[in-house]
Amino acid sequence: MALNILDRQTFIRELHEIVTPTHPVLYAKYLKGRDIQLKNIEQALFAVGRNVFIYGERGVGKSSLAATAANEWMKNQADADPNTYIDIACSPDSTIYGLVGNIARQATFKSRILKKSVKSSFGINLKWITYKRDNEKIELDFTKELNDLSDCIELLKEVESLYHFPLIVVVDEVDQIKNPVEIERLANLLKQLGDKRVDVKFIFTGVAKTLDEILGSHRSAARQLETIELPKLSWDARWDIAKDALSHFNVKIDDDICIRIAMISDGYPFYVHLIVEKLLWRLFSIEKEVTHVEWSDYYEAVNDAVNGISAELSRPYLQAVTQRSQDYEEVVWATLVADNNIGVYIKEMYTHYKFIMAQLKEKEVLDQDRFYNRVRNLLKDQYGPILAKGLKSGQYVYKEKMLRGYVRLKAEAQKIHLNIDEAKAIDDLRFKANASVKSTKYYSSKAPRGW
Ligand SMILES: Nc1ncnc2c1ncn2[C@@H]1O[C@H](COP(=O)(O)OP(=O)(O)O)[C@@H](O)[C@H]1O
Ligand SMILES: [Mg+2]
Repeated sequence: MALNILDRQTFIRELHEIVTPTHPVLYAKYLKGRDIQLKNIEQALFAVGRNVFIYGERGVGKSSLAATAANEWMKNQADADPNTYIDIACSPDSTIYGLVGNIARQATFKSRILKKSVKSSFGINLKWITYKRDNEKIELDFTKELNDLSDCIELLKEVESLYHFPLIVVVDEVDQIKNPVEIERLANLLKQLGDKRVDVKFIFTGVAKTLDEILGSHRSAARQLETIELPKLSWDARWDIAKDALSHFNVKIDDDICIRIAMISDGYPFYVHLIVEKLLWRLFSIEKEVTHVEWSDYYEAVNDAVNGISAELSRPYLQAVTQRSQDYEEVVWATLVADNNIGVYIKEMYTHYKFIMAQLKEKEVLDQDRFYNRVRNLLKDQYGPILAKGLKSGQYVYKEKMLRGYVRLKAEAQKIHLNIDEAKAIDDLRFKANASVKSTKYYSSKAPRGW
């Protein structure tokens, strides 16, 4: 149905089902570019004793992959209701006993058996769970009674027996747990679950560059982990999000605009969702029938997106650019040339800085020394910090990778061209976008540097 004839309620409902900047994707049809990972997780879940660990940068889509994989798994179980997998969020004070207690509580409420018979005194006779039911304590708090790992295993065995299929548990952001005692306990729990063949499946997610950052020396204890390092989203996946959302509302979008959205999102699906959400709102508010996205709609959406970004994400940027000298913003834009993985030398930034300044005729151009000085300041707390030192001496990288996407968006809102080879890069992408066969090699390729 055309966008503008939808009533407001329907529009809002459909918009938020498809475009989800503030929460993880839950269904495979909306999860783009993660087919291989979904397949690997599914295969791992079939193996008794094997659990899954998804790790990667903040915002790449770990929680989405975990939630979708869990949902898909539940969907394929004859007796399961979709969306009833167990979901645990970690915090710095989470404990493993708390985690196991929470799993048991959720599982007890969610299991079909107990839904039918939670009030009756007969049924399965389990040490932990029956005890609670006989006492008619609906507020099931197992945590306090768990004294050691064998208790945890015993309880999870009971939980397992409530279900006709292997139960799935998503433990999100396990990297939040920093206490080494708890981490060791987690590693041992996983090992014992495998040894005792308890068929409760875990999908963990964690913000980390390597699994060792989270599990440290205990990694070997959890040998049975299927580890999935999640890279940034590929080009095709980024623009599939945009294309699909717009085509749902029967709006056409030029490849050039899609390319632009894919580029400035910097591989973070969050930014794609955000821009598309703002774009759809803009189009919906236009009085006449809309069939096409115009460039002006796009730029307005980018502006709205920038304004709608949380303070948490924008704080370092604002801190850096609100210096008294009023010449930091262009310096920060020039740092965009720092690729996420490969560091960049200050000299390269200065070349880009001059390219940017050529577009802003009325502003004074900093000489090399002053520019270098400002870039070095961006390493300091009171200037963000925006940058960190790279692996090689003299090289810089972004301190928080996702911030780079925000900086990109800020520059885009001012219609700043960032890359010296921009015209060529766009031509390349346009050519490939129009190629009749979607070549996986191209579509999964990395962004050209400086985007
Ligand atoms: N593969 C994907 N396809 C479409 N949207 C995605 C995908 N992965 C993540 N998203 C979206 O990106 C944002 C961040 O995803 P999330 O799973 O919360 O990341 P993380 O857990 O790594 O921080 C969310 O808005 C989510 O809806
Ligand atoms: Mg997450």
